[in-house]
Amino acid sequence: MRKSKAKILVVEDEKSMREILTMLLEEEGYGVVAAADGKEGVGWLQKDIFDIIITDIKMPGADGFEILAKSQELSPETAVIMITAFGTLEAALEAMKLGAYDYIHKPFKIDEIRLIVRNTLDTKRLRTEVSLLRETVKSTYEVENIIGKSPKMQELMRLIPKVARTVSNVLITGESGTGKELVAVALHNLSPGSDKNFVAINCASFPEGLLESEIFGHMKGAFTGAVQNKLGLFEVADEGTLFLDEIAEMPASLQSKLLRAIETSTFRRVGGTADIKVNVRIIAATNKDLKKECDSGRFREDLFFRLDVIPLHMPPLRERKEDIPLLVEHFLRKYSEKSIQISGSAMSLLVNCPWKGNVRELENIIERVLIFTDTELITATDLPSELALTSEKPAGLPAVEQGGIDVEDVLRKLERNYLLEALTLAGGKKTEAAKLLNLSFRSLRHKLSKHGIK
Ligand SMILES: Nc1ncnc2c1ncn2[C@@H]1O[C@H](COP(=O)(O)OP(=O)(O)OP(=O)(O)O)[C@@H](O)[C@H]1O
Ligand SMILES: [Mg+2]
Repeated sequence: MRKSKAKILVVEDEKSMREILTMLLEEEGYGVVAAADGKEGVGWLQKDIFDIIITDIKMPGADGFEILAKSQELSPETAVIMITAFGTLEAALEAMKLGAYDYIHKPFKIDEIRLIVRNTLDTKRLRTEVSLLRETVKSTYEVENIIGKSPKMQELMRLIPKVARTVSNVLITGESGTGKELVAVALHNLSPGSDKNFVAINCASFPEGLLESEIFGHMKGAFTGAVQNKLGLFEVADEGTLFLDEIAEMPASLQSKLLRAIETSTFRRVGGTADIKVNVRIIAATNKDLKKECDSGRFREDLFFRLDVIPLHMPPLRERKEDIPLLVEHFLRKYSEKSIQISGSAMSLLVNCPWKGNVRELENIIERVLIFTDTELITATDLPSELALTSEKPAGLPAVEQGGIDVEDVLRKLERNYLLEALTLAGGKKTEAAKLLNLSFRSLRHKLSKHGIK
């Protein structure tokens, strides 16, 4: 389905800048209206509704702030992007506090404009979706604190209430930080045994002997240090849920004991003689490929099949980037009582990170930013600098492996880009633009006419 053309109003008193912006945005396929000063801009606001307004801050007559105010009064859904020049950054930040969407520095790079407009439209669309959703079906993108709108997460969220009602064991796989424990808790909360205990144990954090006595309990004197009887988690979780995290790390001897407990619903405490009967729903989790662990002999295959009755897989965050803006909003609300805004460029930086630590890493970063910055508006500079380095910045260049490229066409666009960028930087002065590109004046003029740049 083709999206209808987004409408952009450019308000900029500097002629060359206005023309370059108009041309560039039209080339991107947007419908552009240009106003030569604030008054004319306000005039347009009374006549039409725009998706985005890009406005200079300093202008004679009505300035950027008036445009912003008027736009908020007339069509609050419109995103306003401020253009700042040297010395007006403070003003831009002020504007953002007043509700501007983002800002760009003058002189700017062509790609920057493209990206900011694209991101603004994306984020705007997402925000509309988010607010629509909050009003209507809150549950669609949120089940038991699990947030996600990507198809994979949506499927998972549809499955969770159904799986929760069964008594079958569940194996949750996925990289670290993808939300395995969150899903386990959700399954418990939505299960018939939700009023009973949810008991979690991390199999990697206990030495073998201790892990056994944690899970199955022990009788006094069963081993040195067993000075009292102790209930095992199996008993504590009776009629409820036992969550065995990092199940792949469970030692072989314990695997057999667990298998027996699952098969017979009975077990013995360490040092005990009585068989104890329990009814426990087991949810196991691992970030390893448990099938592979079976093939290499590190995990019992029969136990694997007992646990893997219902397999649930948590996709890594980098494969569901569309969930990131929702998660960011969720964590901002979780860690701050104030209503915190985030700029479009900061959001796009977050969306494009590889997130090796998945949702946990994202959550930690948001929490940290909120601790260290006392602001109601998070901009890209508030984010840890290492993010900018790891972010897979869209290079704007197509890759050959994506079905081949038209190299002539790519080079033509690249050249055109540089021409426009140099002209912008030079404030429309051709001699200076030529210098910036290391071209003679004649050859610049030739190239400009070749590309139809006035
Ligand atoms: N879809 C999600 N929506 C909201 N919060 C999430 C989501 N996924 C993960 N989180 C949050 O991210 C953090 C990490 O999640 P969780 O502990 O469940 O991950 P995990 O897969 O068990 O990780 P590990 O393998 O390292 O134990 C938690 O604070 C959790 O609340
Ligand atoms: Mg976990």
